[in-house]
Amino acid sequence: MGIYLDNAATSWPKPETVYEAVNQFMRAVGATPGRGGHRKEEEAARIADQTRKAIAELFHAPNPNGVVFTMNATQAINMGLKGILKPGDHVITSAIEHNAMWRPIKALERQGVEVTVVPCDHDGTLNPKQVETAIRTNTRLIAMLHASNVLATIMPIEEIGSIAARHGILFLVDAAQTAGLIPIDMQTMQIDLLAFPGHKSLFGPHGSGGLVVGTGVELETWMEGGSGVESELETMPAELPARLEAGTHNAAGIAGLLAGVQFVQEKGISSIRQHEMDLCAYLIEEVNKIPGVKVLGPADLARRSAVVALTVEGYSPDQLAMVLDQVFDIATRAGLHCAPQAHRTAGTIEIGALRFSPGLFNTMEEIDETVSALRSIL
Ligand SMILES: Cc1ncc(COP(=O)(O)O)c(C=O)c1O
Repeated sequence: MGIYLDNAATSWPKPETVYEAVNQFMRAVGATPGRGGHRKEEEAARIADQTRKAIAELFHAPNPNGVVFTMNATQAINMGLKGILKPGDHVITSAIEHNAMWRPIKALERQGVEVTVVPCDHDGTLNPKQVETAIRTNTRLIAMLHASNVLATIMPIEEIGSIAARHGILFLVDAAQTAGLIPIDMQTMQIDLLAFPGHKSLFGPHGSGGLVVGTGVELETWMEGGSGVESELETMPAELPARLEAGTHNAAGIAGLLAGVQFVQEKGISSIRQHEMDLCAYLIEEVNKIPGVKVLGPADLARRSAVVALTVEGYSPDQLAMVLDQVFDIATRAGLHCAPQAHRTAGTIEIGALRFSPGLFNTMEEIDETVSALRSIL
């Protein structure tokens, strides 16, 4: 069946309960939450509400109604940035952002938003003091990822959250690489807006994700349309989540996401993290024995999430990934990983890197096979 080591893009396989929940929803429920008023609709709405509650509980969010469903983390980040920032506002971000954050910030900059990019060391380390120094009178938002999808670096989110709160600035976190893998507490971390994908470490299907909006955070709508409530208005309703959820939901995806979140809760984030980090630790230890290999990101495992990107002197990451896939049936990801900023910071913008991202369902034996495949290619 091959070895899948691209869980940082999308987790695969999913828990059996996720497949069952999607199948069951599509066959037996089928309706759209908030549209219809019949019993099927009520069942769809009950599942969506239960999912909002489960997500709010997972991230210790103040209110389940602040959980807004989106297609993915990218849509959630865009919703947050564009719902807050206006020309003349200032935003602070980091030097290792994914294009999901970087491109909308650059688009806003072209419209008159001021941007400060706080530099990071070549392993992605960011000094929170530099974030504080960058604050201006018009700083409206600090927006950054929780962990890098290239360097694996975990950001000092709690320190930055407290800086933001002290200065009365909103804080948006891109939890694409951490939701379900590293504990997130919106209240102790003082996060106002949390963008998460459903399809990575929460084990939901493609097309699932969301933005969790904290209490008192007001967002302009970025998209308007049917909401199923207050249809007589020419504007979107004021209340969340309807305000930001225009159009028919990915209701089957939401049902699958609920099963994924329940799976994570039952398994426990700490045991999921332990397993994935054991795999990463072993992989790093083994590849470091190969001459010419350089693993990107912090040496300290406690500061890493579950991705291992590396370069091999004299080899193209793209070709290595292609041979791993076509000859050994091992799925990895090479190139810039949609994160040119992280590669610029690491000094790998010219060639990119080869990334292995183990997931919960990978085994030590698969890591052994992967390392021996890499050795035999080299
Ligand atoms: C750090 C980071 N942010 C954002 C995204 C975008 O996530 P999505 O594909 O759910 O839009 C990714 C995806 O790989 C990511 O790694």
